[in-house]
Amino acid sequence: MEVYKQKEDVIRAVSAFKSQKKSVGMVPTMGALHQGHLQLVIKALAQNDYVVVSVFVNPTQFDNQDDLKKYPRTLEADVELLKTVHKDAIVVYAPSVEDVYADQVVSERFDFEGLEFEMEGKFREGHFDGVGTIVKRLFEIVTPDKAYFGEKDFQQLQIVKKLVEKQHIPVDVVGCEIHREVSGLAMSSRNVRLTKAHSNEAPFIYKTLKAAKIKFGTESATKVTEWVAQQFKANDLLALEYFLIADVSTLKPVKRKSNNKQYRAFIAVFAGDIRLIDNIALN
Ligand code: PAF
Repeated sequence: MEVYKQKEDVIRAVSAFKSQKKSVGMVPTMGALHQGHLQLVIKALAQNDYVVVSVFVNPTQFDNQDDLKKYPRTLEADVELLKTVHKDAIVVYAPSVEDVYADQVVSERFDFEGLEFEMEGKFREGHFDGVGTIVKRLFEIVTPDKAYFGEKDFQQLQIVKKLVEKQHIPVDVVGCEIHREVSGLAMSSRNVRLTKAHSNEAPFIYKTLKAAKIKFGTESATKVTEWVAQQFKANDLLALEYFLIADVSTLKPVKRKSNNKQYRAFIAVFAGDIRLIDNIALN
């Protein structure tokens, strides 16, 4: 498996694939790969001849420098894991900060038509400008036909779709279902940092989401939101940061249900100092 550290090398490899009329999928990641990432890679391989997996901890999307410092960097293990999926059809692009940003480690400012101000945008200042900056840059370098993003970061997925639409980037953005542990906990690179007690309790998040989905069939969004808040108040190990039910296209909280709209419930929870997010389609 080729692991490229410099953009010139990945550009050359992709251009060779394209000159042979081969399709190229891309899975952008920050590394610390787990089964959830592998599902994205497997889907990308099923739909493309080659897949570029980028492994890059993007500094401009972190609002907390300590979080950036502590983010796991496990390139060797990531490559070994990718080899279990396919040895020849996957190419890894694992650049340095300089390779991507040169000497200007700053975000571009984007207008994502309000998507950026909801949910995660309220709690992580500048985060989506950082995501937009790196995803745009990676798409310029790799020029994939299709790019794969997990629905666990549903807001990010919608923002990347908006980025591509507004910037006229010729890539098909594919959303992929959330991959879960047997317990129901959404897979995340952060799960390994949970204490034993928090890890045992964390499946409560998805259990509550599933119950909220059933309740939403007969009750208002406000009632369901209050019910979820009560469940977490009674939980000593998990602290609710937010729960809301939103329209999937605007990500704005629903005021009154309408039959022709699609809704999703979104949640962010602290398990000790580890922040976990999850979501569920409601209709
Ligand atoms: O979801 C992630 O891992 C990151 O936000 C992404 C899309 C790779 C951009 O750094």
